Amino acid sequence: MDDSEGSLVNTPTAEEIAVGGGFLSSLMEDKYSAAVAVIFAIAVPLVLSSMFLGKKKVKQRGVPVEVGGEAGFTMRNVRSSKLVEVPWEGATTMAALFEQSCKKHSHYRFLGTRKLVERDFVTGNDGRKFEKLHLGEFQWETYGQIFERVCNFASGLIRLGHDPDTRIAIFSDTRAEWFIAFEGCFRQNITVVTIYASLGDDALIHSLNETAVSTLICDSKLLKKVASVSSSLKTVKNVIYFESDNTEVSTNISDWKVSAFSEVEKLGQASPAPARFPIKKDVAVIMYTSGSTGLPKGVMMTHGNVVATAAAVMTVVPGLSPSDVYLAYLPLAHIFELAAETVMMTAGASIGYGSALTLTDSSNKIKKGTKGDASVLKPTLLASVPAILDRVRDGVLKNVEGKGGLTTKLFNLAYKRRLTSIEGSWLGAWGVEKVFWDAIVFKKIRSILGGDIRFMLCGGAPLAADTQRFINVCIGTPIGQGYGLTETCAGAAFSEFDDPSVGRVGPPLPCGYIKLVSWDEGGYLTSDKPMPRGEVVIGGHSVTAGYFNNEEKTNEAYKVDETGMRWFYTGDIGRFHPDGCLEIIDRKKDIVKLQHGEYISLGKVEAALASSKYVENVMLHADPFHSYCVALVVPAPQVLEQWAKSNGVSYSDYAELCAKKEAVSEVQQSLSKVGKEAKLDKFELPAKIKLMPEAWTPESGLVTAALKLKREQLKAKFKDDLQKLYG
Ligand SMILES: *[C@@H]1O[C@H](CO)[C@@H](O)[C@H](O)[C@H]1NC(C)=O
Ligand SMILES: *[C@@H]1O[C@H](CO)[C@@H](O)[C@H](O)[C@H]1NC(C)=O
Ligand SMILES: *[C@@H]1O[C@H](CO)[C@@H](O)[C@H](O)[C@H]1NC(C)=O
Repeated sequence: MDDSEGSLVNTPTAEEIAVGGGFLSSLMEDKYSAAVAVIFAIAVPLVLSSMFLGKKKVKQRGVPVEVGGEAGFTMRNVRSSKLVEVPWEGATTMAALFEQSCKKHSHYRFLGTRKLVERDFVTGNDGRKFEKLHLGEFQWETYGQIFERVCNFASGLIRLGHDPDTRIAIFSDTRAEWFIAFEGCFRQNITVVTIYASLGDDALIHSLNETAVSTLICDSKLLKKVASVSSSLKTVKNVIYFESDNTEVSTNISDWKVSAFSEVEKLGQASPAPARFPIKKDVAVIMYTSGSTGLPKGVMMTHGNVVATAAAVMTVVPGLSPSDVYLAYLPLAHIFELAAETVMMTAGASIGYGSALTLTDSSNKIKKGTKGDASVLKPTLLASVPAILDRVRDGVLKNVEGKGGLTTKLFNLAYKRRLTSIEGSWLGAWGVEKVFWDAIVFKKIRSILGGDIRFMLCGGAPLAADTQRFINVCIGTPIGQGYGLTETCAGAAFSEFDDPSVGRVGPPLPCGYIKLVSWDEGGYLTSDKPMPRGEVVIGGHSVTAGYFNNEEKTNEAYKVDETGMRWFYTGDIGRFHPDGCLEIIDRKKDIVKLQHGEYISLGKVEAALASSKYVENVMLHADPFHSYCVALVVPAPQVLEQWAKSNGVSYSDYAELCAKKEAVSEVQQSLSKVGKEAKLDKFELPAKIKLMPEAWTPESGLVTAALKLKREQLKAKFKDDLQKLYG
């Protein structure tokens, strides 16, 4: 995964999704049904197990293929030998795809937004005020109606005086108007620059200035942020803001022409302008991704790239149709959400807009007693990121444990039974017993997300195996895990709905190839047994045109082969399973060569050391000028203090304990022990460690929102500590 992987959850909101809040309170109150359940649970499995244990054949999902470019081991999707490029004939650009889909589905509902009924503020214990919303039903517009609005907005841009040969940026939270503005730009062949709403000022100024954006579209909340840096935004002339319920907007900013979104629509409606359609090679989007170092890079996506990804995903998500309902709440400035909504639009599905803070009945911003987005919308499809699913899982488990007694026992029993069944096979996971457990245990949990979810998409970062299983069991849906980067327009690999395995990212999407290229120095070779291994290189229709204004970085990461196909070098290390599915096993830049030539994979070693009970977080550090590595360890305070207490180690405060020789030596022994159990080599064990009394949090900028280490920041902040360890 690339540097930007944490960004999906980097919005202040996604972190705070509250699940819990008593949804289980009425679960299994009824002692009678619990007793029946126990009897049922013992008797039925004996009968059923034998019925479902057929012999399973491994399904082939990818097949090796000969291609051009650098030598390697290449796989394609088993479905088609020719790469998929468009969802249907003629839909070669976003503009064409949108128009054709709107015509095809004109009477189906398309975009929906909830109306604000009431806005309240409650005061917390610390005196802070929290906004609480009472939101009503979704108000829908059809494909036909949205098409009209898009045409109007496109015309309005021209009437406003926007020069269509200059770029437009969208800087806003996810909402229906985002999508309308986006499609409107394409009808005039205008390139859209997208920027994460959570991006800092420097990055914002850099992105807008570098692409010489002349019209900026933002929501009224972010207009303030933009106004505060207006003097640095020299190229901006027009600003269009999305109106929202009772937010006052000041429009006297710099010498900008500031207009409301609805005014622009009216302008276009009154005076239509002819469309200027792009071709597939034209750049549709320049998407800025935040890196862990330096200024963000703008990835140039062509119309052909976005359409190809959508076409490919259409073939792997089963049964997409206008009867599907999708809940949109992740940032549209991230390729994962953008691709997902494009797929929904292609399928004629309806998209209901919500937000991470209003997702469930117990979400932070939902007024007590009123409904969250999911229970009103009842989506059939949901996209998510690992950090959110982990939170859902923790919320449910905490709630179950809180109940204690029979409830906990019953949940555990039901969970175990369902797990065994699923691990057999997804398709074998149906039957009387499933119906039973669903009715008495899982139905309530499912209702948090509306109760109708049939498929979940997950992307942005790898999903932990136990979380994947938990969702499979409790929500009762398969999860399609996507692997892709902004540079490949999300489209690379996608795990399939009927694949019961965990920890893999599936076969290549049918719009591209995935090639493994040997990395000799790192010791990953395509000739490795039992599976070929190497750097993951992606080729095909979804591979983007490169980084904006940065030929050097583009040439480093992209190559064009003799057949004209573009390949992107991801820097991830993967291996192919015999059925054609990819597994990501390492990251190239996290591998360091020590003084004597041994390679050390920081991520692998850290994962092993993290299983010590003392470790809350650990960063391994290796450098080529030494023959050994060192580590910074954030201990779990309770565990360390417990140890100190039972061993009579006295200290005045926790920082002092962390500095004590005995404590350091205790933790180091524990690391050696778990390291040996994980079969690490001696040089992989840190020769010296330092215990860090303060936790590393996303707020401190030392880890991403997905809690991944930000190595560069950590190295910079603790430079002196690292030097001392080598001293
Ligand atoms: C904006 O871009 C121009 C050239 O494209 C450059 O000279 C200038 O330094 C940039 N300004 C900022 C604030 O980045
Ligand atoms: C807009 O702001 C400028 C300076 O900030 C001020 O001089 C001007 O009077 C304002 N115009 C209106 C219409 O408020
Ligand atoms: C679309 O716009 C780009 C950039 O302004 C331009 O290079 C390209 O030729 C345009 N495409 C068409 C079909 O006019």
